[in-house]
Amino acid sequence: MNSKPRLSTYWVTCADGLETLLQEEIQGLGIQDIEKFPGRLIFKGKLEDAYRVCMWSRLASRVLTPIHVHELEFTHDARDVAEELYEGAINFDWSLIFAPQSTFAIRLHVERDIKVNTQFATLRVKDGVVDSFMEAVGKRPSIDIKQPEITLYVLAGKTEHTYCLDLSGDSLHKRGYRRFMTDAPIKENLAAAILQKAQLKQRNPEIILDPMCGSGTFIIESLMILTDRAPGLVRRFGFNGWNGHDHELWMSIKAEAAERHKVALEQPLPKFYAYDADWEAVKATKQNIIAAGFEQQLDQIQIEERTLADWPDFQAEGKTSFIVTNPPYGERLGEKASNRALYLGLSALLQKNFPNQHAAVIAAAVEQADVLH
Ligand SMILES: C[S@@+](CC[C@H](N)C(=O)[O-])C[C@H]1O[C@@H](n2cnc3c(N)ncnc32)[C@H](O)[C@@H]1O
Repeated sequence: MNSKPRLSTYWVTCADGLETLLQEEIQGLGIQDIEKFPGRLIFKGKLEDAYRVCMWSRLASRVLTPIHVHELEFTHDARDVAEELYEGAINFDWSLIFAPQSTFAIRLHVERDIKVNTQFATLRVKDGVVDSFMEAVGKRPSIDIKQPEITLYVLAGKTEHTYCLDLSGDSLHKRGYRRFMTDAPIKENLAAAILQKAQLKQRNPEIILDPMCGSGTFIIESLMILTDRAPGLVRRFGFNGWNGHDHELWMSIKAEAAERHKVALEQPLPKFYAYDADWEAVKATKQNIIAAGFEQQLDQIQIEERTLADWPDFQAEGKTSFIVTNPPYGERLGEKASNRALYLGLSALLQKNFPNQHAAVIAAAVEQADVLH
C-alpha cells in the first residue's frame, strides 16, 4: 500500500532582497508552491525537501519548521509580551520534540512595533520550555547558547507567537570554512547570491579573478558552485537532537551530495586569481581554501599579495573571464574620497586587461558604481 508522505510547513529565511533569487534556487531543488514574504519563503513539503534546502541552498539563512502557535487573546497596548511568550512556551509539551538530555537555546525575533525587552522575553521563553519539560517528564534540558543541539526560533507577532525548530542550527551562511577572518568579510550566502545573479556557472569562465579577495569568500564560493559542492556537506545542523530527525534519509542526501562533488571534480576548472594588498588577507584566503576542502585545487589558484597597481599579464585575450570583488566599502574600511579613486583605477584596469568581459563589483554608493563603465 502506498501511503502519502506527511507534509509539513517550512520557512526558509534570507537577507532582505534575496527572496526572488532564493525562490528560484529552491524551485531548482524540486520544491513547488512557495509563498514569498519579506525575508522569508514558506512552503509545504516533505522532510526530504527541508533537508535538501539545508544541504543545497547557497542563499538561505535558516530553515525552520513551526512546531507550535500561541494565539493571542489580547492585542491591546498594555499587553505583557514576555508573559505571553512564557504562556505559549509552557502550553506545549516540548518533550515531544527533544529529549531533556539535549542542550538548547532560544532565538527570539520580535515583529516591528512590539514593545518588549527581548533579553528578558528570551529568558521567559526558556523558562516556559523548561517548566513544560518538568511538568511532562520531571527533568529539564540545559541551556547552551554557543553550540546548542536544539535551537528554538520564536517569532513574537501581533496576533500570535510562533515557536519553530531551527533545522539549520546556526545560520546557513556559516559553511564552516572561514577559519581566518579579515576586515569586513562578505557573508558567504551574499557572495553566493552575487555569483548566482552574475550567472557564474552559465558563463563557464576560463579565468576568475578577485583582485581584493580579503578572506577569499568569492573564490571559495565560486569553487563550490563550479565543483557542485553542497554548502551543507560538512557543517553541523540543528536536527540531530530532534525526535523527528530521519538519520537514514539525511545520510542518503549527504552521500548523494558527496558523489555529485566527486563527479564534478573530474571536470577542468578555470584558473583562479586571488589578490589582495594585505598579506594577512592572502594568508587567510589560502587557509580558508584549504579549510573548505580545496587543497588539491591550490595549483589552479594563484594567491598573491598584489595591489591594483601591480597586476601581471593575465593573457586573457580570447578567454572568457569573470571578475568579482568587493572593494573597501568606504564606511567600514577606507575613506570615501580615496574610494572613488580606487573604483576609477579598478575600472581602467578592467577595461585594459579584460575588455568586453563580465565583472561583478560591489559598490556601497552610487558615485562608486557610476565610475565603473
Ligand atoms: C571589503 S574587503 C574584501 C572582503 C572579501 N570579499 C571577503 O569576503 O573577505 C576589501 C579588501 O580590499 C583590499 N584592498 C584595499 N585596497 C586595495 C588595493 N589597492 N589593491 C588590492 N587590494 C586592496 C583590502 O586589503 C581588503 O582585504
